[in-house]
Amino acid sequence: MSPKSPTAEATRRAERLRQELAEHAYRYFVLDAPSIPDAQYDRMMRELEGLESEHPQLVTPDSPTQRVGARAPEGFSEVRHEVPMLSLGNAFTREEVADFVRRIEKRLEVSDPEFAVEPKLDGLAVSLRYEEGLLVRGATRGDGAVGEDVTANLRTIAAIPLRLRGEDAPALLEVRGEVYMPREAFEAFNAAARERGEKPLANPRNGAAGSLRQLDPKVTARRPLGFFAYGTGVAAEGALTDRHSTTMTGLRDWGFPVCPESDCVRGLQGLLEYFDRVGERRDALPYEIDGVVYKLDRYGQQQEMGFVSRAPRWALAHKYPAHEETTVVQGIEVQIGRTGAVTPVARLAPVPVAGVTVTNATLHNADQVERLDVRVGDTVVVRRAGDVIPEVVGVVMERRPPRAVPWRMPAQCPVCGAEVVREPGEVVARCSGGLFCAAQRMEAVRHFASRRAMDIEGLGERIVADLVDLGYVETVADLYTLDVAALQEMRRRAHERDGTVPETLKSGKVASKWAENLVAAIDATRKVRLERLLYALGILQIGEETAKALARAFGDLETIRRIDAMLLLAVPDVGPKVADSIARFFAQPHNQDVIDVLLARGIVVDGNDPDPALAAQFGVAFLLSAAKRLGAPLDGAGETSLQRLGDGFDSLDALAAAGPEALAAAGLSAVAGSSLSGLLADATWSARLRASEAAMRAIAARAGRATPETAPLRGRTFVLTGTLAQMTRDQARERIEALGGKVAGSVSKKTDHVVAGESAGSKLDRARELGVDVLDEAAFLRLLADHAHG
Ligand code: IVH
Repeated sequence: MSPKSPTAEATRRAERLRQELAEHAYRYFVLDAPSIPDAQYDRMMRELEGLESEHPQLVTPDSPTQRVGARAPEGFSEVRHEVPMLSLGNAFTREEVADFVRRIEKRLEVSDPEFAVEPKLDGLAVSLRYEEGLLVRGATRGDGAVGEDVTANLRTIAAIPLRLRGEDAPALLEVRGEVYMPREAFEAFNAAARERGEKPLANPRNGAAGSLRQLDPKVTARRPLGFFAYGTGVAAEGALTDRHSTTMTGLRDWGFPVCPESDCVRGLQGLLEYFDRVGERRDALPYEIDGVVYKLDRYGQQQEMGFVSRAPRWALAHKYPAHEETTVVQGIEVQIGRTGAVTPVARLAPVPVAGVTVTNATLHNADQVERLDVRVGDTVVVRRAGDVIPEVVGVVMERRPPRAVPWRMPAQCPVCGAEVVREPGEVVARCSGGLFCAAQRMEAVRHFASRRAMDIEGLGERIVADLVDLGYVETVADLYTLDVAALQEMRRRAHERDGTVPETLKSGKVASKWAENLVAAIDATRKVRLERLLYALGILQIGEETAKALARAFGDLETIRRIDAMLLLAVPDVGPKVADSIARFFAQPHNQDVIDVLLARGIVVDGNDPDPALAAQFGVAFLLSAAKRLGAPLDGAGETSLQRLGDGFDSLDALAAAGPEALAAAGLSAVAGSSLSGLLADATWSARLRASEAAMRAIAARAGRATPETAPLRGRTFVLTGTLAQMTRDQARERIEALGGKVAGSVSKKTDHVVAGESAGSKLDRARELGVDVLDEAAFLRLLADHAHG
């Protein structure tokens, strides 16, 4: 049967979906201000896929369904760049930058010229060619003159538009920019690779390069790559403006992400200030940069400056200190983590890496040590980037001393002496001592107190170690019984144990201030936001983001600590593995006891109403499909038939009462019908399902009561820029989110307020340009106070 030709309505609908999906991708990737939830995007995508598979005539090359294409038959073909892709001269010192500016000032006879300034992303340069608005080819830089055709791989990168946006898109345009692997994606990729026992990537740059070199675009598509535009190649007459900065604004409007840290400055001082400003934020950026790039903004001036060999005289890369250095391994020890994980750590000859002296670097696990074949005495490459713990990424084999011996995982925990076990199929070896192991207890307390968890000021590593070691704290709940006298006694005993004499004793003063401060700091954490407490409990697999998602979804601890893993699956980004881990944590009486004691000792958990979007998913279909994802035997029942079942029955009772005919009438196959009846008759599953159904109803009832007053900033988008005096940006974000608002990374027309602190930069300019409301810190604090709960 040949495919039906599409109706006019189907054609219109497909066209409409493509447009809307492109617009949402633009809002997501370029403006960083998504206006619909991911789930809705996915639904539209599925609808388009459905239409296109029914009527293949409707497929267009720029359809978002066409990102992943066929495998390249044999390697990549060559592409000659019409306009060569240049390289950049490097500067490592301020003097070299001063020379660069001086040369420009002299030749152009100007002072303090205008520069467009951008981070230098550490990824891979590519050139994207658009003809009549459509992406027709994408190529790597290669040697600058000839690169490789990697179109199929570049098409899989969602941040790269398949069609230029807008009416005024030029007939021909080449856009140049950097494909990069976001730091988080890089970390996740490596964690997964290590878990599978595969070789991890040495750095995000290799991640991006390796991904583009895949012969199968399906593989590239699974790598979360990003793209930032930073220039152009050939372009139709009149397509570009007379400046780099305004051309970049134009590229944004045509749908290309441009790095939000880009700016315009004047003269040497402007460049150096920018270098410092971005340098301070370097570690906090979600992608890796190895410097900043300075470009004369006016194309006319660029032309006057011209080139030397293949680098322009009008641009310069100013590099930050490297993220990688070499040093010598003085020893390999193991650390015991909160969950008993035994992590080998290399003790290193101190070496400065990107501005910080590194003395330890993680080796992750025994497999990794074996893969790298790191031995004591080896010279190794150490890498430190962002907030990530420094790690050993390789051994310089030529410099291995004779007689260096391979490393072996100890058989016993060095802290508690319990056996170190490695379950079959597991990468991580664990100390089997459990809470008997002081190291594990200590890590649990340390995590609980840490800045992003309960944030107990003054409860540092030393004090935690002594509290646990001397028996003052067994579980985190014991922190809330500490008083000044106990802390002083503990310190005295610690000194006795160590045979040291405290400074203050020598001078005759009684040291109590620190103890008073610590007791006050602990006391100050008695009222705590739900997500912080959830994170602080140290549940395996629960990072800050998941803790936030759980809190936003359910709103109170009592629900979260009692419900079945099934309902946890309703939370965005929580899959069966995470749901299981949470449920397993709360299934342990010991953990529930700790929570009870915390509450009894005066911890007050500040929650919220459940998210109505969560309750909207609930129903019979949700329950059954969640149970299935958790391993319930539901053979033959696919997603669609469960969905249809949910439309037909509004409770488990109704479902249980339905005979085989009713189930068949609802579209269930005989096999599925009987496996469903079996499931409902199974005592364990049936109890879990019914308990979950009741919990679902209770949550839905609470969600129904949610009023706009409970989230006074709901629907409002904020952008933070500059430095605030009263709080950090993280704290400002938290306050906004707690009131239901959203914080976006860049300013667009959809931004409601820009909060501008000291020395706010380009985001403030953009806000003024767009007429977005700008709040100074005082006005922001007033707004928070006006909307604060209670
Ligand atoms: S401009 C004429 N801008 O640096 C200038 N390059 O050494 C051509 N890079 O291969 C490049 N971020 O991979 C430019 N904001 C940026 C950049 C950047 C990273 C890389 C790019 C290029 C290399 C030049």
